[in-house]
Amino acid sequence: MTKSLNQAVSMKQILDLVRDDLNRVEQAIGLETIGSVAAINTISHHMQAAGGKRLRPILLLLSSRLVSSRTETTEDAIQLAAVVELIHTSTLVHDDVIDEAKMRRGRPSANALWGNQMSVLAGDWLYMQAFQIAMRQRNFTILDILIGLTQMMVEGELLQLDRLGRIDISEADYMELVDRKTASLFNACCRLGAMAGSADDAMSARLGEFAWNLGMAFQLIDDVLDFTSKENILGKPVGNDLAEGKVTLPLLYALGETTREETRLIEIILKDRSYERVPFSTVLEIIEKYRGVERSLERANQFTARAKEIIDAFPDSPYQKAVLTIAALITERDR
Ligand code: IPE
Ligand code: IPE
Ligand code: MG
Ligand code: MG
Repeated sequence: MTKSLNQAVSMKQILDLVRDDLNRVEQAIGLETIGSVAAINTISHHMQAAGGKRLRPILLLLSSRLVSSRTETTEDAIQLAAVVELIHTSTLVHDDVIDEAKMRRGRPSANALWGNQMSVLAGDWLYMQAFQIAMRQRNFTILDILIGLTQMMVEGELLQLDRLGRIDISEADYMELVDRKTASLFNACCRLGAMAGSADDAMSARLGEFAWNLGMAFQLIDDVLDFTSKENILGKPVGNDLAEGKVTLPLLYALGETTREETRLIEIILKDRSYERVPFSTVLEIIEKYRGVERSLERANQFTARAKEIIDAFPDSPYQKAVLTIAALITERDR
């Protein structure tokens, strides 16, 4: 049974719960991203200062408290929260090089400002710094999770490159990419949080499954927002995925039913990698006609429903409520 949103605490209350811990995480990140070369410091600072939702460290911190009877967050949890945010940051820096993205977090991307060479190297450095911090825990299970995760994500980016520009993507192909790109990191965050809170393997696995479902929903919503949001809210351009050659779920659902002429219009955009011959508004009309957005939202809601079901089984606590609220808010977010 899923609890209603009314019973859960608001996003502000969630942030109140983790604010002090999150400040410690920010401090740790600031201290850990000082290299002996200026480019590292400049690019790290650019990424950290631009904001970002900090959803991954928040999930890790909440998980560590959810499973534990302690009244304080452990230093291990703080350190691991910094690790996952750094991994996330470095994948964004690399992802923007690969996607040739010009905007990130409402600012020019690192590659737009400093070029690909510097960004790739700074991304590598940040990645290694995350592992350096994780190493200090002297725990092979943690390293095992992080290495497996990194390989999953890299394989995901490679698979995505291979499928770029293709219109014949199946729903299973798409879900595989979402799993690798996004859900696997969410999964790792909650498993690591559970471990930092001294949970047993079964409980860590349950939290991991919760987070995996949340991550799937999160990326589906990201892909919906790419069609429905505005650049000034999203912090990155809309209509970007298709112009990058990516067919995502709202369009994929529509393409199951489009006429031959409509399909041809999408093919033109994928070939041109721009909206010069076929405008973005035409794509929106096609998606609207076949309810691509509604159907994607329904699919995202199935993932969050499963996520909530898992958390509902945990004992009632402010942390359990906070995690439930995140699950509810994920599908309602606009950035
Ligand atoms: C961006 O993640 C990459 C995706 C998985 C869609 P976020 O939307 O969490 O990025 P920030 O950290 O808030 O900028
Ligand atoms: C997800 O890929 C981000 C990563 C796993 C790094 P996208 O390419 O869809 O993310 P955005 O849209 O650039 O944030
Ligand atoms: Mg991208
Ligand atoms: Mg995207």
